[in-house]
Amino acid sequence: MTTPFHHEPGTVPGPVPPPECPAHGMAPGGLRRFYGPEAESDPAGLYDKLRAEHGTVAPVLLHGDVPAWLVLGHSENLHMTRTPSQFSRDSRRWRALQDGSVAPDHPLAPIFTWQPVCVFADGANHERLRGAVTDSMARIDTRGVRRHVNRFSNRLVNDFCLQGTADVVARFAEHLPMMVMCAIFGMPEEYDDRLVQAARDMTRGTETAVASNAHVVGALNRLVQRRRTDPEPDLASWLLEHPASLTDVEVTEHLRLILIAAYESTANLIANVLRMVLTDPRFRARLSGGHMTVPEAVEQTLWDEPPFTAVFGRWAVGDTELGGQQIRAGDALLVGIAAANTDPHVRPDLTADMEGNRAHLAFSGGPHECPGQDIGRAIADVGVDALLMRLPDMELSVEESELRWIGNIMSRHLVELPVKFAPSAQQEIDADPLTVMSRPWAQNDWEVSSPARSAPAPGYGTEVPPPVHAPGASPQRDGAPAIPGQRGAAAPARLWQAVSRWWNGY
Ligand code: HEM
Repeated sequence: MTTPFHHEPGTVPGPVPPPECPAHGMAPGGLRRFYGPEAESDPAGLYDKLRAEHGTVAPVLLHGDVPAWLVLGHSENLHMTRTPSQFSRDSRRWRALQDGSVAPDHPLAPIFTWQPVCVFADGANHERLRGAVTDSMARIDTRGVRRHVNRFSNRLVNDFCLQGTADVVARFAEHLPMMVMCAIFGMPEEYDDRLVQAARDMTRGTETAVASNAHVVGALNRLVQRRRTDPEPDLASWLLEHPASLTDVEVTEHLRLILIAAYESTANLIANVLRMVLTDPRFRARLSGGHMTVPEAVEQTLWDEPPFTAVFGRWAVGDTELGGQQIRAGDALLVGIAAANTDPHVRPDLTADMEGNRAHLAFSGGPHECPGQDIGRAIADVGVDALLMRLPDMELSVEESELRWIGNIMSRHLVELPVKFAPSAQQEIDADPLTVMSRPWAQNDWEVSSPARSAPAPGYGTEVPPPVHAPGASPQRDGAPAIPGQRGAAAPARLWQAVSRWWNGY
């Protein structure tokens, strides 16, 4: 799960380019480009054109005009991700790689170059590697993580709450997931601005990407060496002691994978949820009515602005058919997450509320479906909730139309989200140990019950915002439909939610 980001910022098409330039959406052969300014500035428009021209599976061109299939249909994406015998995750099957038409230094190499990690594995090897990841993640103390998220969020808010303005992408969304992941991994002391900057940079194809990658891998190597001799209750130690007997290199590579997969996606999700909460009239109206919860905003965002818009990819094992298209052995396919989430067959009305419906493909599907989705949701739920609690009058300080996006073939995210609010006092934050993350007993409480946000006060009043620990949470919908192979039993009962809310400190 890495992203190349070769076209930053590249969101707004400039002067009209010559026809053969990638800035044109259509290549000379009549195929549309899935890269370049046109694809990045209006992906939804591109999906519409591709659907009209080709149906649910469309031929597209990747960087260098290399052909691939973009799967647009919801059911076609589900079929592809759930049928690894036909659609492998092993990029070494790519015919274009084998015949040399894609060079190893292709701009997308960081995302397609095969590595010995679970992302590129199929079958028994995938089960072994992914089993180590999911078993280790199952040992994480869910309530402990949520308490940490709440505390980290308040620490971040403390850094700007006196100022009355902030860019909550740079000051909040891009930091919170890294703080949480460092604590989960067992290296809270490694969290700093440099690590955040390195994690952002290492997958963006910049001149400094190699040095940034070395910085991240250096921190992970130090952690793995420490934990090999001195285990602690943290993810690194659990991966090392897992019966799958991963080597130190495998553990480091999987920690790197988890960090990349978790950081970028969760930072995008937080930023997207904040934008929706601040700008979408549906949320504004419902928030003032007292029914809207942050988890519902998160779920709607996962439909409308999925943090990963597409995943590259799958590679056809043999000749086959998908969505009426003849796929040849070795062809490359992209899981079209954002396209599937707006497939007219599942969402004929895009403005309709998706409340309670988790059938979106934001976490993909099949054996590679994101194993960290509950953690990602919890970071976004608790983090956004804590921010709104501290700054309840927060509003955009620019016109919505001024917001800028960065896009690439795998994701699209906000450049910044400037907000203003009444300056408020810093809050004292209790200092529990940061590394104790192991689950003390069987739990099933990833679901977050967030209080409804009250209507923002008109103008900037002088009233002190309610403290983070204030009661007043309103009930939240109980549970959600199960996701096969991912979700456990039903959500906890209301009483348990109340107890757990108290336990979490909010
Ligand atoms: C809201 C945030 C997140 C989103 C939207 C997201 C989405 C995804 C997607 C789309 C995939 C690709 C599945 C495929 O290849 O078909 C994936 C894989 C993965 N994600 Fe996440 N993810 C998120 C957060 C996390 C977190 C917090 C973790 C870890 C703590 C995580 C760990 C992983 C891992 C290890 C994989 C590879 C799984 C495999 O190949 O078997 N993700 N994620």
